Amino acid sequence: MSRNVLTAVAWPYANGPRHIGHVAGFGVPSDVFSRYQRMAGNAVLMVSGTDEHGTPIQVQADREGVTARELADRYNRVIAEDLQGLGLSYDLFTRTTTRNHYSVVQGMFSALHRNGYVTERSQLSAIDPATGRGLPDRYVEGTCPICGYDGARGDQCDSCGNQLDPQDLVNPRSKIDGKPPQFVESAQFFLELPAFADALGGWLQTRTDWRPNVLKFSENLLKDLRPRAISRDLDWGVPIPLPGWSERGDKRLYVWFDAVIGYLSASVEWARRTGDPDAWRPFWDGSGDSRYFMGKDNVVFHSVIWPAILLGASGKPAGTPSEYGDLQLPSEVVSSEFLTMEGKKFSSSRSVVIYVRDVLERYGADALRYYLAAAGPETSDTDFTWEQFVTRNNTELVAGWGNLVNRTVSMVEKNLGAIPGPGELLGPDHAVLDASQAAFGPVGELLARSQQKAALHEVMKVVAEANKYLSDQAPWKLKDDPARRDTVLHVALQLVDDAKTLLTPFLPDSSEKVHRMLGGTAVWSGQPELREVEDLDGGPGYPVLMGDYATEAVWERRPIRVGQAVDKPVPLFAKLDPSVVDDELARLADAAETA
Ligand code: MF3
Ligand code: ZN
Repeated sequence: MSRNVLTAVAWPYANGPRHIGHVAGFGVPSDVFSRYQRMAGNAVLMVSGTDEHGTPIQVQADREGVTARELADRYNRVIAEDLQGLGLSYDLFTRTTTRNHYSVVQGMFSALHRNGYVTERSQLSAIDPATGRGLPDRYVEGTCPICGYDGARGDQCDSCGNQLDPQDLVNPRSKIDGKPPQFVESAQFFLELPAFADALGGWLQTRTDWRPNVLKFSENLLKDLRPRAISRDLDWGVPIPLPGWSERGDKRLYVWFDAVIGYLSASVEWARRTGDPDAWRPFWDGSGDSRYFMGKDNVVFHSVIWPAILLGASGKPAGTPSEYGDLQLPSEVVSSEFLTMEGKKFSSSRSVVIYVRDVLERYGADALRYYLAAAGPETSDTDFTWEQFVTRNNTELVAGWGNLVNRTVSMVEKNLGAIPGPGELLGPDHAVLDASQAAFGPVGELLARSQQKAALHEVMKVVAEANKYLSDQAPWKLKDDPARRDTVLHVALQLVDDAKTLLTPFLPDSSEKVHRMLGGTAVWSGQPELREVEDLDGGPGYPVLMGDYATEAVWERRPIRVGQAVDKPVPLFAKLDPSVVDDELARLADAAETA
């Protein structure tokens, strides 16, 4: 039965190009999941966009000497291009500066306020004495008052996991200039998190299939729920929709409050753009599934704050639902751990960084997707090394999968030009075909649970078996027995076709190429398109990613068609010279020096 699946992907800040640490967390995992779900026959809505408000944007704009709006425009486009190049199949990748987003955010805020879950309180807030501007929680660092860790941030301590407020920190300092921030009394709006403690606790208890780290971390957060400020002293953000506040130039909704609501506003925007303004509802009314993909520093916002917003705006535990109705809580918060690079934390400012566009340009999308799926930080922190990247590319993609395709297809093309019919199947033929077909079930289950490393591992076992079959049967030695040779080639082509299907969620671009080699004409795995669109409500136009992903690809064996003409194979992956490692390390060293 077809289910509605919402794939909600964390919104990248529009403050710079994406590096591979970013896309290891939210990008590739969400796309592998969505592509699999579509192949399994489910209706998928995959949404995200650039996160463009708040101090993260303001601070970078100051650095680059442009306005926040100019910065957001610049990097919205750059990021959309990065993600398109990686082949991420967003149904809509938009941005948070659209009029539609402002209106959905304000609608949700108003419902929370009406239901009594947003209240006005006075708070000490941190400002940068140099500029007088508010300092976001994450830009205040200091010593954790609970565990004594010295790198704690104003929103939470990564060492003990407790939520903090900037003024809790011992020896607070601004991340921007290292100076102590100034704390001033200021009226802010607070989300009354304690009111949701029971509901959140009951919900988390039912989430037994989450990754253990994520569940444990989330349960811990519930032990200390305090009201949390959702407005800031800042001029860049969504205005507060209350009389006396909306016209003020110095108060805005907190960037995290507006960003998480983006999942809903992007769904609404997608529906409006498809011509059926209510089409988003089945993805939000609890009849289906919703999976949220992100790096682990985003977990608190998705397993506590966003669920609280959803509950409160739906009139739970008390009140009346917003115009968006009764909104479902996340089925799963799928968080990855951190990717480090050659032993160091990624940092654009310190030039410990590998940009997505550079990797795409030099090595291609599927090489990067493969590495991140096979060796990414799925459940523990993981180090990226160029050495491993080159090794995996050469042994697994080139010598494993690429070689299987190349040997099989070129033998068929050279000797026959078309897919041969099989003669009588012998024991080894049956064995390898059965094993390949049997992989769809378990691999699909792993993908449905976002155990992508294990899933890919199983698929690569099928590829290895196929390579072994080919070597054992050695069809190139069967010139005197063309009937047997054709049988072996038929079986091998079926194995190639199966593996192409199994690999499609991971390697959409090369699977498309294999599909074409075997005579496919219709699109197999659709790719995102960058489209220039008008703002739906009269704001300035902007680029979005959208795409037609309703393609031929189905999660099952498709018998290959005997007699179908077969093309000369095109190379799928490039073998990398070991010198690539030194070249890349030298580039990193250069960048670090000039930083
Ligand atoms: N921009 C945030 C970050 O890069 C992520 C926002 S996710 C959202 O850490 F859900 F809030 F949109
Ligand atoms: Zn701590």
